[in-house]
Amino acid sequence: MKRTKVKELLSSPKVGSDVLVKGWVRTKRGNKNIVFIALNDGSTINNIQLVVDVASFDEKLLKEISTGACIAVSGKLVESQGQGQSIEINATAIELYGKSDAEAYPLQKKGHSMEFLRENAHLRFRTNTFGAVFRIRHAMAFAIHKYFNDKGFVYLHTPIITGSDAEGAGEMFHVTTLDLKNPPRNDDGSVNFGSDFFGKETNLTVSGQLEGELGALSLGEIYTFGPTFRAENSNTPRHLAEFWMIEPEMAFYDITDNMDLAEDFVKYLIRYALDNCHEDLGFLNKMIDNNLLERLRFVVENEFVRLGYTEAISILTAADKKWDYPVGWGSDLQAEHERYLVEQHFKRPVILTDYPKAIKAFYMKQNDDGKTVKAMDVLFPGIGEIIGGSQREESYDKLIARINELKIPLKDMWWYLDTRRFGSAPHSGFGLGFERLILFVTGMSNIRDVIPFPRTPKNAEF
Ligand code: 4AD
Ligand code: MG
Repeated sequence: MKRTKVKELLSSPKVGSDVLVKGWVRTKRGNKNIVFIALNDGSTINNIQLVVDVASFDEKLLKEISTGACIAVSGKLVESQGQGQSIEINATAIELYGKSDAEAYPLQKKGHSMEFLRENAHLRFRTNTFGAVFRIRHAMAFAIHKYFNDKGFVYLHTPIITGSDAEGAGEMFHVTTLDLKNPPRNDDGSVNFGSDFFGKETNLTVSGQLEGELGALSLGEIYTFGPTFRAENSNTPRHLAEFWMIEPEMAFYDITDNMDLAEDFVKYLIRYALDNCHEDLGFLNKMIDNNLLERLRFVVENEFVRLGYTEAISILTAADKKWDYPVGWGSDLQAEHERYLVEQHFKRPVILTDYPKAIKAFYMKQNDDGKTVKAMDVLFPGIGEIIGGSQREESYDKLIARINELKIPLKDMWWYLDTRRFGSAPHSGFGLGFERLILFVTGMSNIRDVIPFPRTPKNAEF
């Protein structure tokens, strides 16, 4: 017999038919005559109930089927006699694939803390919460590709190992095959990377943008979707050392086109989740955050506020609030400021533009005021910055001037600068932090709980 997934069984039940299901035992209860097993196979948050007539099975086998065990069960699909489910399976044969020692299984009981589950990250997929989170994460990844594919964007794979620091923040993980105990050195004592694998200093990418720009300036509209790495020592519920980013880059878009795309894109993704993940979202709304569905609908149905940085600073300095980080024109906004604007002042997502050039990356297009750049950050309730982007400086001379001002080594940037020499064009792009999106969509509160294997300072266990 062919195996049927639980999701399919529940969505179009063929009562009276013989079925075969395979999965992991969530709970087992009953008495000496009859045993009820709730089986989950990951295809849906819902379990299928198995009804086992004790007399028809080997006693030892039934004893070995405990929470966490993996079994294959065949039987007849029937209308349920009990409450809580509409159908169940009257088991006729059970095969035990993998026992799960009840004494040792960490998830034997329910109601573990998120911290405990993080320490058991290899098993947390077996819980309802993490099952829901990772099915939603999958749906969002799929929707991202669908969105851009439908719009004619080209998915461009940018390198994971690079020689550049796109954001200029210097928070990079080195990639090397040199002997760390005894690396070759230059006369001045610095490490000589000439004999390293790539013959130069390399690192894990912090962003695919610079390479993405090369694609956009010939393919027109591209997007990247890959892992990015930042060695910033930020131990917060919003930062990972390894996170996934989606970076669209578009020729002929100005900053307004860029904002329009960003707003349409995130609304599309949230709507996709509402339309396609209702069972998992319903569970998270009930168990994790009672306002989740309302918040998701609100974001989809309302326009984002668009506001200049200078105005935002006026609002923040006028606010009757004690800030941990003082604000004034020129200061970078912290999560507390971003969240105040979004959650208390405007009560909806905000797109902040025209930041001071000193706090933004070298590639952003300068405004005529000489002080600000055409940057745009999208700020979300509960999250703060979910998207960062800008219109790019397309003028070769202005870009060179800025690079010199910031003392960025020019010789490493020749390939990027060439785009401004040969057919430069106005263009824009942004980066959406995938895990921050998943945080928002699932209502989870810690970014470590929306990526299967979180990488944070002092943590790379699994
Ligand atoms: O604002 P960021 O640094 O922008 C860039 O990297 C640009 N190159 C994007 C572009 O214009 N193509 O990062 C973009 C987004 C942030 O808004 C945030 O959502 C996420 O990436 N992000 C992080 N997410 C998790 N952990 C971290 N350490 C993150 N740093 C940034
Ligand atoms: Mg940013």
